[in-house]
Amino acid sequence: MLPLEPTSPTWVAAALADLPRVLVDHAHCESKAATTALRHAGRHPAWPRLALSMSRLAREELVHFERVLRELERLGIPFRLQAGAGYASGLQAAMRPPTSARRGGCPTWQGDRTVDEMLVCALIEARSHERLELLAGAVPDERLAGLYKELCEAEARHGDLYLELAEEVAGGPVTDRLAELTRHEAAVLARPGLSALMHAGG
Ligand SMILES: [Fe+2]
Ligand SMILES: [Fe+2]
Repeated sequence: MLPLEPTSPTWVAAALADLPRVLVDHAHCESKAATTALRHAGRHPAWPRLALSMSRLAREELVHFERVLRELERLGIPFRLQAGAGYASGLQAAMRPPTSARRGGCPTWQGDRTVDEMLVCALIEARSHERLELLAGAVPDERLAGLYKELCEAEARHGDLYLELAEEVAGGPVTDRLAELTRHEAAVLARPGLSALMHAGG
């Protein structure tokens, strides 16, 4: 699993205090994860294996989305539009511009930009894993705790997949760049003034 700056112990209590909002945010996160995977597949059509692995990932994220929607329904919480915390766009702001390198012999890859796209997704998935695990251990509702436990295992796997894809584009380890983006991720997450969401609040 990717080494992240740990979430502050105060986040769990803040999340539990506003669980309906966290659940709605979580549903949107799952929906966005599916959309992002399909966007990757469309953007890099000549990347061997990407389209299939992203399609599988998108289907899995949609199942997560539906499961969270069912929990919302069970708990009588309406699914609604809700402002996010700008976490993903905060991470994307650090992505490097495309380079013309033809790593792996694939002309549609955009070198450094694509490495960063994959690493940003790896970090998002890893943070989801970490926070779902925290919620799984803290939420009093047993059914919800079970769902969080299952989903957190899947998100860890997704994080590993994106890291593997970043290494595939880079043609080797991406340790230094991952360390830079990991520090950036912690700074984005810790921006002041945001209430506890899946990807907000330190
Ligand atoms: Fe998911
Ligand atoms: Fe995921």
